[in-house]
Amino acid sequence: MATPLILDCDPGHDDALAILLAVADPAVDLLAVTTVAGNQTVDKCTLNARRVLSLAGVTSVPVARGADRPLARELRIADDVHGGTGLDGPTFTGTPAVPESELSAHDLLVDILSRTPATIVATGALTNIAQLLMESPEAAANITEIVWMGGSTGRGNIAPLAEANAYVDPEAAEVVVDSGIPFTMCGLNVTHQALVTDDVLARLERIGTPLARVCGEWMTYFASTYRKVFGFESPPLHDPVAVARVIDPAIVHCVEANLIIETAGDWTAGATVVDLDGYTGRRPNARIAVELDREAFWDKIIGAVAALG
Ligand code: RIB
Ligand code: CA
Repeated sequence: MATPLILDCDPGHDDALAILLAVADPAVDLLAVTTVAGNQTVDKCTLNARRVLSLAGVTSVPVARGADRPLARELRIADDVHGGTGLDGPTFTGTPAVPESELSAHDLLVDILSRTPATIVATGALTNIAQLLMESPEAAANITEIVWMGGSTGRGNIAPLAEANAYVDPEAAEVVVDSGIPFTMCGLNVTHQALVTDDVLARLERIGTPLARVCGEWMTYFASTYRKVFGFESPPLHDPVAVARVIDPAIVHCVEANLIIETAGDWTAGATVVDLDGYTGRRPNARIAVELDREAFWDKIIGAVAALG
């Protein structure tokens, strides 16, 4: 049976591909897309989520707007990486066919989770999920697992020791990790194994559909900013790694370890302190992704884009 899934995201180029993977793969049943401020304002991220689903011709998945700012900090957007729209590259005009839900992300999450258990994949700051845990614990008790693209077992990408999704809202990440709900972290250490190489771009081009062409243009834009900002030859496709973990756990190998979110450090807020070697003596509270089966991962991505026609 397909795993019921809710995708909480901040599209975002890699979020866009995460949405497409979640919509297309038969191993998961995408119940909703909820949005959060992160890569861009929540207005822009919500519009982008609607646009991605519309381009894929999927009108049955509701899109609901979530938090417009972190729990306790100023919002820091990533327009240097994702551009002024949050999804720069191809130009779109007009209103996407997929409407915004009348429910807020919080209310839609409560509505779904009060009817069915579901896995949440989160590919942005964890603000919406923390708010759900704090405001609606009964609904949150129906979350089967949270799989997060965020954090890192090593260095960061927005601060020396903090990955962007953790850095934007460390207080929210702490609430979520400390909740006791099964938690999997797919951090930079594993998503940097998912590089959009020329070979991947060529595979996308060979699909030949309008959607594949748009994906190629998104990836080309993403490659240009990753080259400029980080000096990467090929950009890492972070967010779909978390979706792939739910689709087939064998694609993303994890180990159990203790995870602490640093919120108080003068220079390290947002650091994800992963005790892979047992130094702290604290018991494991998270699954930590460490290795990606690259071939299987890219087959899933290419297969998803091709299947959407
Ligand atoms: O650090 C990578 C993460 O930050 C990805 O989720 C990307 O979309 C941005 O949100
Ligand atoms: Ca994201």
